[in-house]
Amino acid sequence: MNERDSEIMAGQLREMGYRPVTDEKAANLVIVNTCAVRGSAEEHALGYIGQLKQLKDQNPSLKLAVAGCMSQEPGTIAWLRKYASHVDLVFGTHNLHELPQLLDQVEERDEMVVDVWKTAGDVVEHLPSQRADGVKAFVNIIYGCDKFCTYCIVPFTRGKERSREIPAVVDEVEALAREGYQDITVLGQNVNSYGHDLNPQVDLADLLGKLEHIDGVRWLRYTTSHPRDFSQKLINVIAGSKKITHHVHLPVQSGSNPILKRMNRKYTREQYLDLIERVKDSIPDRVLTTDIIVGFPGETEEDFEQTMDLIRTVKYDAAFTFIYSPREKTPAARWEGRDPVPNPVKKERLNRLMDLQYRISLMANQELVGHTELVLVEGLSKKNPNVWAGRTHTNKVVLLDRDPHIDLIDRFVPVRITAAKTFYLAGEVIGAPVSDPSPRRRIELPLM
Ligand code: 5AD
Ligand code: SF4
Repeated sequence: MNERDSEIMAGQLREMGYRPVTDEKAANLVIVNTCAVRGSAEEHALGYIGQLKQLKDQNPSLKLAVAGCMSQEPGTIAWLRKYASHVDLVFGTHNLHELPQLLDQVEERDEMVVDVWKTAGDVVEHLPSQRADGVKAFVNIIYGCDKFCTYCIVPFTRGKERSREIPAVVDEVEALAREGYQDITVLGQNVNSYGHDLNPQVDLADLLGKLEHIDGVRWLRYTTSHPRDFSQKLINVIAGSKKITHHVHLPVQSGSNPILKRMNRKYTREQYLDLIERVKDSIPDRVLTTDIIVGFPGETEEDFEQTMDLIRTVKYDAAFTFIYSPREKTPAARWEGRDPVPNPVKKERLNRLMDLQYRISLMANQELVGHTELVLVEGLSKKNPNVWAGRTHTNKVVLLDRDPHIDLIDRFVPVRITAAKTFYLAGEVIGAPVSDPSPRRRIELPLM
């Protein structure tokens, strides 16, 4: 979501005459687009904002802005005023479409410009956007979240759910397909509640059903799902589609009913496992992944064992695992004050969980050895420029020995899987690309 917001900011800046630079020393504007989902993300952002002071000392005409979810937290503005007075502009997630006017204000005023909306306005359509090169594109379909899981800050930083109308999404994806984007991901904090606020009501299955008929779209992905809203209708649409990914990401968070209840996840372990069974039955070649939080306030060893047991039962291809991080304003942060799981216990549980998941991930990957997969070659491996890194339709990373005489980046190629590791597969290209070269050349900007 943040990357997509950054593309919109970059699009507005391009229209104002700005150009991207590869070295921040050459920049006259730096926007730090922050994430607030866990404390570690915030510390990272605050550290970086602190470092930028040096850059500004060297180049006083440099303008610095802070945007994103952290700006929506009242504590951040106070912190920035106190410790980061070198910041020129603070704006939030609800008013990024106002970036040009906000930058004008920065030019006119001497003090820090702070403009953060407490609540979201209407969905703003037709914003310019500077998308990444290549063939992958992200498209927002729903903003905000109404679920209020008790650990989560997103409903506070991203506001209530607001869906985009189907024709607006279809128009955007058609335009992307005409430009040569073929791997489309539709985005929302909870894409499964897409459309419930529209009149007439529609749902994600309706939308994906429309998008998959767009010529030029080869792969269609959606993220992120909430298990409670993942309907049988959606499972059927996915099962019957060649374009909609068979990668199903279903964040479970915990395998223990008492914890799920206190997390306000609105499903039980049994309901979740029933959903997983239905996904497995309907989509035999599915790839299942999840998110798990360990050390939620009051989590006992028995609760944690329930999570371990659920992992053994589902046998996910991969899991994103997080130590619980208290977030201001959320109910669980108060419980953390009263009934925290001690840090060493949190870490030990995380290690046990990762150890189990890694063994299962390796086994799941080994099952693919010998199979043929279509792979989108995304670039060179960061560790080895003689290796191409790509992904399958189900989002598994595949490494391929690079032939220096041909350029396969941004192309879809048939690959035979030759070996499996915990986090990736190795393969060999066994045929010509099935897609033409991308009309856009990839410009590698350094990641900060
Ligand atoms: N602490 C730890 N993990 C969290 N997540 C969300 N909020 C928190 C928190 N306070 C995790 C959840 C979610 C993923 C995006 O981040 O697992 O699915
Ligand atoms: Fe946060 Fe996801 Fe729960 Fe919404 S559904 S409150 S984004 S964890």
